[in-house]
Amino acid sequence: MSPQPQAAVGAPLSRVDGRLKVTGQAKYAAEHDIKGAVHAVIVDASIGRGRITSIDAGDAEKHPGVLRVIHHRNAPKLPYRDNPGSNNPPGGRRLRVFQDDKVLFHGQPVAVVVATTLEAAQHGASLVQVEYDAEQSSTDLAEAEPGEPTNYARGDAQAGLRDAAVRLDLTYQLARNHHNPMEPHATLARWDGNKLTVWDKTQWVMGTHDELAAVFDLPADAVRVINPFVGGGFGSGLRCWPHTTVAALAARETKRPVKLVLSRRQMYFGTGFRPAYAYRLRLGSDRRGRLTAAIHGIDAETSSYETFTEAIMGAGQMTYSMPNVSQAYRQVPLDVNTPIWMRGPGFATASFAIESAMDELAHKLGIDPIELRRRNEPDEDESSNLPFSTRRLRECYTVGAREFGWHRRSSRPRSRREGDWLIGMGMAASVYDPGRFPAEARARLDADGTAVVETATSDMGPGTYTSQTQVAADALGLTMRTVTFRLGDSLYPQTGPHGGSATMASVGSAVVDACDKVRRQAVKLAVEDRDSPLYGVDAGDVVVRGGRLHVKGNPARGETYQRLLARNDRSHLEARGSYAGPPTPARRSYHAYGAAFAEVAVDATLGLVRVRRMLGVYDAGRIISPKLADSQAIGGIVGGIGGALLEHTVTDHRDGRIVNANLADYLVPVNADVPEVRAIYLDGEDNDGNELGVKGLGEVVQVGVAAALANAVFNATGRRVRELPITAEALL
Ligand code: MOS
Repeated sequence: MSPQPQAAVGAPLSRVDGRLKVTGQAKYAAEHDIKGAVHAVIVDASIGRGRITSIDAGDAEKHPGVLRVIHHRNAPKLPYRDNPGSNNPPGGRRLRVFQDDKVLFHGQPVAVVVATTLEAAQHGASLVQVEYDAEQSSTDLAEAEPGEPTNYARGDAQAGLRDAAVRLDLTYQLARNHHNPMEPHATLARWDGNKLTVWDKTQWVMGTHDELAAVFDLPADAVRVINPFVGGGFGSGLRCWPHTTVAALAARETKRPVKLVLSRRQMYFGTGFRPAYAYRLRLGSDRRGRLTAAIHGIDAETSSYETFTEAIMGAGQMTYSMPNVSQAYRQVPLDVNTPIWMRGPGFATASFAIESAMDELAHKLGIDPIELRRRNEPDEDESSNLPFSTRRLRECYTVGAREFGWHRRSSRPRSRREGDWLIGMGMAASVYDPGRFPAEARARLDADGTAVVETATSDMGPGTYTSQTQVAADALGLTMRTVTFRLGDSLYPQTGPHGGSATMASVGSAVVDACDKVRRQAVKLAVEDRDSPLYGVDAGDVVVRGGRLHVKGNPARGETYQRLLARNDRSHLEARGSYAGPPTPARRSYHAYGAAFAEVAVDATLGLVRVRRMLGVYDAGRIISPKLADSQAIGGIVGGIGGALLEHTVTDHRDGRIVNANLADYLVPVNADVPEVRAIYLDGEDNDGNELGVKGLGEVVQVGVAAALANAVFNATGRRVRELPITAEALL
């Protein structure tokens, strides 16, 4: 940890950009005012699979204000250079907009109308006549042929299961979920000669930058991506989607800056989604609840043209101790667009199956669900044989049980009733494997005693501006007010995606490195400057606080940055910092942990589920920003409530149409669905590969929530629902 006093880190500060956001001054992608910008509206395919046989854009082109209609018959061939070394795209061949007559999924862009006003573009889009030769599309996970499995095995799972005293064989179904961030995906594209600038909703500035350079075959310095604010993401912004290419193409063809905003409906097939899963889990244990074997059969949606994978297998390998595990993860290609990671990717899905099954096992054996988990707590990560950096799941259980009042839960289902309502409690373990990506940052301390720190990360809402300002302020020895943190521009030093719970550890480490270097430059200047009160002091004995350098333990002896820089005729001090990523090969198993607790009331006659209380207890390392952490935890739990009880993308398998592609029919939790939610963080640090001691919080908070709720529903009603979302019908 830094020798610096920690004044801002750990303080429950409000967002530094809060005022900009609530006063509407924060500009999101579509809100930037670019002179001469015109509007583009995508025409999307109305069949689930097939070919375009004709496009008649005549009426659209005649519509007042319409400048251009672009489609595969008139679009230029785009280079679509390979873009290796990134997850964009995943395996396969990415969708190439307007390059041929093929329709691969319902809603695929088939044309774009560019007009001087949004209204003209929208009306123009409605006038484009597209004829198709439609084929039967395949969009049902249960009906389609899976691809080759990815396998994992240790021990002999078949034998372990055969010899087990107790066996379970359970199949879980999880509906497809869409991210539905508040801000729709949008791109504003402008060409200046051969240089492309986009204002884009993205969680990955450099990913979008690299993809646009690849699609248009441009040198890296000919593309600039700008996104100072992102209005939510949950993963939907983790790759550059086709509409961004469409906007850039339309701008190039019309020689005008083009603004393209996906409608809420278009967000359901213009961006990704959490894939639907069928998860079969066979579990064996001895009479005392010690697990002997698990066999996981995992099937998930992917598109016909790309193979999307996520970390679905990790949880089954390392959450509990057992000698025998086998897993088969199969992608099922369907006529859909490609899925993408959604909050707690993989782990949130797997935990629903695993943590529900643990609850079933506990019930079958007559063991308390927490006690069953304690009996299967591993001493090391059995998937890698590495020691844990920290793993304090036992403490999460202890604190959670105490704070939630777990002792009040009856182990007998359907034994607590209040009028029409059946009351029950459930819990689940949460595990997540946070990402850590290489990152760079630049810090500059100016002669006026203020500093600017820059990195090309983004802030989709967790509060990156604030938390990074906190670590920068402490490393520089400045107050929050005197540090400006800038992000959201590909001209800034590079970082990885703003996702995977990686930003604090990765970008934060680079920021601290840059700021440490600047502070050390100043300290060196002072201790070597005969005119400084710090002259001759050991550099290691100097700390900076409130912009003033002084001897540790002797605040009287020192001077301000301003005085030091003025006297030395320095306009500024500047440094670049970096974070190289986690140690390779890994020396420790680095995961974030938690325990989720839920209390529900279920209407005995109507089957309605009402969440009464939720608690999450987290072993997430050091908490940089407690107020923001609470927002993350509450948000993750709310997301979990959505996945457990409400969220379900419904596809009409006749033609691949998503029938609830709007926020009236795709249900997300509203305030009335969200009761008292509380989060507790175990005090501590995890220094594996990052000096900040953080683990990353944003994903683990959603993991386990659905299972905790399903287990609470069982405790309330005696009904085991193995399908998400849990509907009233399933409980009638
Ligand atoms: Mo998160 S799914 O990495 O935005």
